Amino acid sequence: MRAVTVHPGRTSTLAVSEVTDPDPGPRDLLVDGLALGVCGTDREIISGGYGWAPPGQDHLVLGHESLGRVRQAPPGSDIAVGDLVAGVVRRPDPVPCGACAHGQFDMCRNGRYTERGIKEIDGYGSTSWTVDVDYAVPLDPGLDQAGVLMEPTSVVAKAWDQIDRVGNRAWFEPRTVLVTGAGPIGLLAALLGTQRGLDVHILDVVTGGPKPRLVADLGATYHHEGLEKLGRELQPDIVVEATGVGRLVLDAMTVTGPYGIVCLTGVSTPGRRLAVDAGGLNREVVLENDALLGSVNANLTHFRMAAEALAKADHGWLNRLISRRVPLSRAEEAFERQDGDVKVVLDLEQD
Ligand code: BGC
Repeated sequence: MRAVTVHPGRTSTLAVSEVTDPDPGPRDLLVDGLALGVCGTDREIISGGYGWAPPGQDHLVLGHESLGRVRQAPPGSDIAVGDLVAGVVRRPDPVPCGACAHGQFDMCRNGRYTERGIKEIDGYGSTSWTVDVDYAVPLDPGLDQAGVLMEPTSVVAKAWDQIDRVGNRAWFEPRTVLVTGAGPIGLLAALLGTQRGLDVHILDVVTGGPKPRLVADLGATYHHEGLEKLGRELQPDIVVEATGVGRLVLDAMTVTGPYGIVCLTGVSTPGRRLAVDAGGLNREVVLENDALLGSVNANLTHFRMAAEALAKADHGWLNRLISRRVPLSRAEEAFERQDGDVKVVLDLEQD
Protein backbone atom coordinates (compact mmCIF):
# COMPACT_ATOMS: atom_id res chain seq x y z
CA MET A 1 0.00 0.00 0.00
CA ARG A 2 0.99 3.65 -0.40
CA ALA A 3 1.95 5.85 2.54
CA VAL A 4 3.43 9.29 3.21
CA THR A 5 6.78 8.67 4.89
CA VAL A 6 9.59 10.73 6.40
CA HIS A 7 12.94 10.01 8.03
CA PRO A 8 12.62 11.94 11.32
CA GLY A 9 15.55 14.17 12.20
CA ARG A 10 16.49 14.66 8.53
CA THR A 11 15.29 17.29 6.06
CA SER A 12 13.71 16.71 2.63
CA THR A 13 12.82 13.04 3.12
CA LEU A 14 9.08 13.35 2.54
CA ALA A 15 7.99 10.67 0.07
CA VAL A 16 5.00 8.68 -1.06
CA SER A 17 6.34 5.15 -0.54
CA GLU A 18 5.22 1.59 -0.99
CA VAL A 19 5.04 0.03 2.50
CA THR A 20 3.87 -3.36 3.81
CA ASP A 21 0.09 -3.80 4.05
CA PRO A 22 -1.26 -3.60 7.62
CA ASP A 23 -1.88 -6.88 9.37
CA PRO A 24 -4.74 -6.43 11.88
CA GLY A 25 -4.34 -8.03 15.32
CA PRO A 26 -7.34 -9.59 17.14
CA ARG A 27 -8.35 -6.23 18.72
CA ASP A 28 -7.71 -4.14 15.60
CA LEU A 29 -9.97 -2.51 13.09
CA LEU A 30 -8.77 -2.55 9.50
CA VAL A 31 -9.60 0.85 8.04
CA ASP A 32 -9.53 2.28 4.51
CA GLY A 33 -7.91 5.70 4.76
CA LEU A 34 -10.14 8.45 3.34
CA ALA A 35 -8.33 11.65 4.25
CA LEU A 36 -5.51 13.01 6.36
CA GLY A 37 -5.39 16.51 7.80
CA VAL A 38 -2.11 18.41 7.69
CA CYS A 39 -0.87 20.59 10.56
CA GLY A 40 2.16 22.51 11.81
CA THR A 41 3.49 19.48 13.68
CA ASP A 42 3.71 17.56 10.38
CA ARG A 43 5.65 20.45 8.81
CA GLU A 44 8.01 20.48 11.77
CA ILE A 45 8.60 16.73 11.37
CA ILE A 46 9.23 17.16 7.64
CA SER A 47 11.76 19.92 8.37
CA GLY A 48 13.66 17.48 10.62
CA GLY A 49 12.92 19.43 13.81
CA TYR A 50 10.56 16.97 15.54
CA GLY A 51 9.35 13.38 15.29
CA TRP A 52 10.73 9.91 16.06
CA ALA A 53 10.63 6.74 13.94
CA PRO A 54 9.39 3.51 15.50
CA PRO A 55 12.19 1.56 17.20
CA GLY A 56 14.17 -0.51 14.67
CA GLN A 57 12.79 1.44 11.70
CA ASP A 58 14.35 4.47 10.00
CA HIS A 59 11.14 5.86 8.50
CA LEU A 60 7.89 7.02 10.07
CA VAL A 61 4.50 6.94 8.36
CA LEU A 62 3.35 10.51 8.86
CA GLY A 63 -0.11 11.70 9.85
CA HIS A 64 -2.16 12.02 13.02
CA GLU A 65 -5.36 13.74 11.79
CA SER A 66 -7.16 10.68 10.50
CA LEU A 67 -10.40 9.81 8.76
CA GLY A 68 -11.23 6.36 7.47
CA ARG A 69 -13.96 3.83 6.82
CA VAL A 70 -13.91 0.48 8.63
CA ARG A 71 -13.28 -2.48 6.28
CA GLN A 72 -12.97 -5.16 8.97
CA ALA A 73 -13.90 -5.14 12.67
CA PRO A 74 -13.20 -7.66 15.46
CA PRO A 75 -16.24 -9.74 16.44
CA GLY A 76 -18.37 -8.17 19.17
CA SER A 77 -16.98 -4.64 18.76
CA ASP A 78 -19.24 -1.57 18.94
CA ILE A 79 -17.76 -0.29 15.71
CA ALA A 80 -19.07 -1.93 12.54
CA VAL A 81 -17.87 -2.41 8.97
CA GLY A 82 -18.69 0.74 7.00
CA ASP A 83 -18.47 3.11 10.02
CA LEU A 84 -16.61 6.38 9.67
CA VAL A 85 -13.84 6.52 12.28
CA ALA A 86 -10.89 8.58 13.48
CA GLY A 87 -7.97 7.15 15.42
CA VAL A 88 -6.65 8.53 18.69
CA VAL A 89 -3.11 9.96 18.44
CA ARG A 90 -1.44 9.17 21.76
CA ARG A 91 -0.82 5.86 23.55
CA PRO A 92 0.03 5.57 27.27
CA ASP A 93 3.61 5.20 28.39
CA PRO A 94 4.67 1.62 29.23
CA VAL A 95 5.40 2.22 32.95
CA PRO A 96 2.62 3.53 33.18
CA CYS A 97 2.73 6.83 35.06
CA GLY A 98 -0.26 7.66 37.28
CA ALA A 99 -1.98 9.79 34.64
CA CYS A 100 -1.58 7.15 31.90
CA ALA A 101 -2.78 4.46 34.32
CA HIS A 102 -5.98 6.51 34.69
CA GLY A 103 -6.57 6.86 30.93
CA GLN A 104 -5.25 10.44 30.99
CA PHE A 105 -2.39 9.75 28.60
CA ASP A 106 -2.76 13.32 27.28
CA MET A 107 -1.35 14.34 30.69
CA CYS A 108 1.53 11.81 30.72
CA ARG A 109 4.04 12.64 33.45
CA ASN A 110 7.15 10.82 32.27
CA GLY A 111 7.19 11.77 28.57
CA ARG A 112 7.47 8.13 27.50
CA TYR A 113 4.08 8.16 25.74
CA THR A 114 4.01 7.39 22.02
CA GLU A 115 2.02 9.18 19.29
CA ARG A 116 0.85 7.90 15.91
CA GLY A 117 2.59 9.69 13.07
CA ILE A 118 4.71 11.73 15.51
CA LYS A 119 6.52 9.70 18.13
CA GLU A 120 7.58 6.09 17.62
CA ILE A 121 4.40 4.68 16.06
CA ASP A 122 3.44 4.85 12.40
CA GLY A 123 0.70 7.32 11.62
CA TYR A 124 -2.50 7.33 9.61
CA GLY A 125 -1.11 8.69 6.34
CA SER A 126 -1.65 5.52 4.31
CA THR A 127 -4.32 4.08 2.02
CA SER A 128 -5.23 1.63 4.77
CA TRP A 129 -4.34 1.39 8.46
CA THR A 130 -5.13 -0.58 11.57
CA VAL A 131 -6.12 0.78 14.95
CA ASP A 132 -6.92 -0.94 18.25
CA VAL A 133 -10.71 -0.74 18.49
CA ASP A 134 -10.32 0.91 21.92
CA TYR A 135 -8.44 3.80 20.28
CA ALA A 136 -10.92 4.43 17.46
CA VAL A 137 -13.85 6.82 17.75
CA PRO A 138 -16.89 6.58 15.45
CA LEU A 139 -18.16 9.70 13.71
CA ASP A 140 -21.61 10.88 12.66
CA PRO A 141 -21.94 9.43 9.12
CA GLY A 142 -23.41 12.75 7.95
CA LEU A 143 -20.04 14.43 8.54
CA ASP A 144 -18.51 12.61 5.59
CA GLN A 145 -15.21 14.34 4.64
CA ALA A 146 -15.55 16.94 7.43
CA GLY A 147 -14.83 14.07 9.83
CA VAL A 148 -11.14 14.73 9.14
CA LEU A 149 -11.50 17.66 11.58
CA MET A 150 -11.94 15.20 14.46
CA GLU A 151 -8.37 15.31 15.81
CA PRO A 152 -7.96 19.11 15.90
CA THR A 153 -11.45 19.29 17.44
CA SER A 154 -10.36 16.82 20.14
CA VAL A 155 -7.45 19.15 20.94
CA VAL A 156 -9.81 22.11 21.45
CA ALA A 157 -12.34 19.93 23.32
CA LYS A 158 -9.54 19.18 25.76
CA ALA A 159 -8.61 22.86 26.00
CA TRP A 160 -12.23 23.76 26.85
CA ASP A 161 -12.43 20.91 29.35
CA GLN A 162 -9.32 22.27 31.06
CA ILE A 163 -10.69 25.83 31.03
CA ASP A 164 -13.89 24.59 32.69
CA ARG A 165 -11.97 22.75 35.38
CA VAL A 166 -9.76 25.75 36.13
CA GLY A 167 -12.72 28.14 36.04
CA ASN A 168 -14.76 25.98 38.38
CA ARG A 169 -12.26 26.48 41.19
CA ALA A 170 -14.56 29.37 42.19
CA TRP A 171 -17.83 30.90 40.92
CA PHE A 172 -17.62 30.77 37.11
CA GLU A 173 -20.03 32.16 34.55
CA PRO A 174 -17.86 33.30 31.64
CA ARG A 175 -19.41 35.50 28.96
CA THR A 176 -16.69 36.56 26.56
CA VAL A 177 -13.92 34.57 24.93
CA LEU A 178 -11.18 35.93 22.73
CA VAL A 179 -9.42 33.50 20.42
CA THR A 180 -6.10 34.59 18.93
CA GLY A 181 -5.46 33.06 15.51
CA ALA A 182 -8.09 32.00 12.98
CA GLY A 183 -6.35 28.81 11.85
CA PRO A 184 -8.13 25.45 12.27
CA ILE A 185 -7.45 25.30 16.03
CA GLY A 186 -8.64 28.89 16.57
CA LEU A 187 -11.75 28.42 14.43
CA LEU A 188 -12.66 25.11 16.08
CA ALA A 189 -12.07 26.63 19.53
CA ALA A 190 -14.44 29.43 18.46
CA LEU A 191 -17.00 26.87 17.27
CA LEU A 192 -16.99 25.19 20.68
CA GLY A 193 -17.21 28.63 22.31
CA THR A 194 -20.36 29.44 20.34
CA GLN A 195 -21.81 26.02 21.19
CA ARG A 196 -21.43 27.08 24.84
CA GLY A 197 -23.38 30.25 24.18
CA LEU A 198 -20.39 32.56 24.70
CA ASP A 199 -19.77 35.89 23.00
CA VAL A 200 -16.87 34.81 20.76
CA HIS A 201 -14.24 37.14 19.26
CA ILE A 202 -11.38 36.05 17.00
CA LEU A 203 -8.25 38.02 16.23
CA ASP A 204 -6.11 37.31 13.17
CA VAL A 205 -3.81 39.36 10.96
CA VAL A 206 -5.45 38.67 7.60
CA THR A 207 -8.21 40.84 6.25
CA GLY A 208 -8.95 38.82 3.08
CA GLY A 209 -9.44 35.15 2.27
CA PRO A 210 -12.07 32.86 3.81
CA LYS A 211 -11.43 33.54 7.53
CA PRO A 212 -13.51 36.70 8.17
CA ARG A 213 -16.59 35.10 6.53
CA LEU A 214 -16.10 31.81 8.40
CA VAL A 215 -16.01 33.72 11.68
CA ALA A 216 -19.07 35.82 10.81
CA ASP A 217 -21.04 32.70 9.78
CA LEU A 218 -20.32 31.24 13.19
CA GLY A 219 -22.03 34.25 14.76
CA ALA A 220 -18.67 35.38 16.16
CA THR A 221 -16.81 38.69 15.63
CA TYR A 222 -13.65 38.97 13.56
CA HIS A 223 -10.92 41.47 14.52
CA HIS A 224 -7.55 42.33 13.04
CA GLU A 225 -6.44 45.26 15.22
CA GLY A 226 -3.77 45.02 17.94
CA LEU A 227 -4.40 42.65 20.84
CA GLU A 228 -3.73 45.21 23.57
CA LYS A 229 -6.37 47.64 22.34
CA LEU A 230 -8.91 44.90 21.64
CA GLY A 231 -8.28 43.32 25.03
CA ARG A 232 -8.85 46.65 26.83
CA GLU A 233 -12.24 46.94 25.11
CA LEU A 234 -13.37 43.34 25.52
CA GLN A 235 -11.92 42.40 28.93
CA PRO A 236 -12.45 38.72 28.00
CA ASP A 237 -13.10 36.13 30.68
CA ILE A 238 -11.17 33.59 28.63
CA VAL A 239 -8.42 33.83 26.02
CA VAL A 240 -7.61 30.82 23.86
CA GLU A 241 -4.21 31.56 22.33
CA ALA A 242 -3.83 29.57 19.11
CA THR A 243 -0.88 31.20 17.34
CA GLY A 244 2.12 30.44 19.55
CA VAL A 245 3.51 33.88 18.60
CA GLY A 246 5.59 35.10 21.57
CA ARG A 247 4.30 38.69 21.67
CA LEU A 248 0.67 37.56 21.48
CA VAL A 249 1.24 34.96 24.20
CA LEU A 250 2.60 37.64 26.54
CA ASP A 251 -0.09 40.17 25.67
CA ALA A 252 -2.79 37.52 26.09
CA MET A 253 -1.76 37.18 29.73
CA THR A 254 -2.53 40.82 30.43
CA VAL A 255 -5.76 41.43 28.51
CA THR A 256 -8.19 39.31 30.52
CA GLY A 257 -10.55 40.75 33.08
CA PRO A 258 -10.22 39.66 36.73
CA TYR A 259 -10.31 35.88 37.25
CA GLY A 260 -9.25 35.54 33.61
CA ILE A 261 -8.13 32.26 32.13
CA VAL A 262 -5.55 32.14 29.36
CA CYS A 263 -5.24 28.79 27.64
CA LEU A 264 -2.16 28.39 25.45
CA THR A 265 -2.48 25.89 22.61
CA GLY A 266 0.12 27.04 20.05
CA VAL A 267 3.33 25.04 19.83
CA SER A 268 5.95 27.70 19.15
CA THR A 269 9.54 27.61 17.97
CA PRO A 270 12.00 28.11 20.84
CA GLY A 271 14.90 30.59 20.75
CA ARG A 272 13.07 33.89 20.18
CA ARG A 273 13.64 36.48 22.92
CA LEU A 274 11.40 39.36 23.92
CA ALA A 275 11.71 42.04 26.59
CA VAL A 276 9.11 41.43 29.33
CA ASP A 277 8.05 43.49 32.34
CA ALA A 278 8.09 40.38 34.52
CA GLY A 279 7.11 42.27 37.68
CA GLY A 280 4.17 43.94 35.96
CA LEU A 281 3.02 40.66 34.48
CA ASN A 282 3.27 38.81 37.77
CA ARG A 283 1.50 41.63 39.63
CA GLU A 284 -1.40 41.56 37.20
CA VAL A 285 -1.81 37.77 37.28
CA VAL A 286 -1.68 37.72 41.10
CA LEU A 287 -3.92 40.72 41.74
CA GLU A 288 -6.54 39.40 39.31
CA ASN A 289 -6.48 35.73 40.36
CA ASP A 290 -5.73 34.99 36.72
CA ALA A 291 -4.83 31.49 35.55
CA LEU A 292 -2.52 30.51 32.75
CA LEU A 293 -2.50 26.99 31.39
CA GLY A 294 -1.00 25.07 28.52
CA SER A 295 -2.98 22.35 26.77
CA VAL A 296 -1.88 19.71 24.29
CA ASN A 297 -3.19 16.44 22.88
CA ALA A 298 -6.46 14.73 23.87
CA ASN A 299 -7.62 11.53 25.52
CA LEU A 300 -10.58 9.33 24.59
CA THR A 301 -13.05 11.45 26.54
CA HIS A 302 -12.01 14.50 24.51
CA PHE A 303 -12.30 12.58 21.23
CA ARG A 304 -15.87 11.66 22.18
CA MET A 305 -16.62 15.28 23.12
CA ALA A 306 -15.21 16.29 19.72
CA ALA A 307 -17.39 13.74 17.91
CA GLU A 308 -20.45 15.26 19.61
CA ALA A 309 -19.42 18.84 18.88
CA LEU A 310 -18.84 18.03 15.20
CA ALA A 311 -22.12 16.11 14.91
CA LYS A 312 -24.13 19.12 16.11
CA ALA A 313 -22.14 21.73 14.14
CA ASP A 314 -23.22 23.05 10.73
CA HIS A 315 -21.61 20.49 8.43
CA GLY A 316 -21.50 22.97 5.56
CA TRP A 317 -19.44 25.35 7.73
CA LEU A 318 -17.09 22.53 8.74
CA ASN A 319 -16.56 21.58 5.10
CA ARG A 320 -15.58 25.18 4.32
CA LEU A 321 -12.67 24.86 6.77
CA ILE A 322 -11.18 22.38 4.33
CA SER A 323 -9.70 24.91 1.96
CA ARG A 324 -7.57 22.59 -0.20
CA ARG A 325 -7.57 18.87 -1.00
CA VAL A 326 -4.44 17.34 -2.47
CA PRO A 327 -4.21 13.82 -3.98
CA LEU A 328 -1.81 11.45 -2.24
CA SER A 329 0.53 11.29 -5.24
CA ARG A 330 1.17 15.06 -4.89
CA ALA A 331 1.61 14.89 -1.08
CA GLU A 332 4.42 17.47 -1.03
CA GLU A 333 2.02 20.22 -2.15
CA ALA A 334 -0.20 19.57 0.86
CA PHE A 335 2.60 20.53 3.24
CA GLU A 336 3.51 23.79 1.44
CA ARG A 337 1.77 26.83 2.87
CA GLN A 338 -0.44 28.78 0.43
CA ASP A 339 -2.42 32.00 0.85
CA GLY A 340 -6.01 31.33 1.88
CA ASP A 341 -5.19 27.96 3.48
CA VAL A 342 -7.25 27.00 6.51
CA LYS A 343 -7.17 23.19 6.75
CA VAL A 344 -5.33 21.36 3.98
CA VAL A 345 -6.23 17.71 3.54
CA LEU A 346 -4.49 14.87 1.77
CA ASP A 347 -6.98 12.77 -0.20
CA LEU A 348 -6.03 9.15 0.44
CA GLU A 349 -8.59 7.77 -2.02
CA GLN A 350 -7.31 9.74 -4.97
CA ASP A 351 -3.82 8.81 -6.14
C1 BGC B 1 -1.05 17.00 17.96
C2 BGC B 1 -1.06 16.44 19.37
C3 BGC B 1 0.33 16.10 19.81
C4 BGC B 1 1.24 17.30 19.63
C5 BGC B 1 2.66 17.07 20.10
C6 BGC B 1 -0.06 18.13 17.86
O1 BGC B 1 0.00 18.56 16.54
O2 BGC B 1 -2.33 17.47 17.61
O3 BGC B 1 -1.89 15.30 19.40
O4 BGC B 1 0.32 15.69 21.15
O5 BGC B 1 1.23 17.69 18.29
O6 BGC B 1 3.29 15.96 19.53
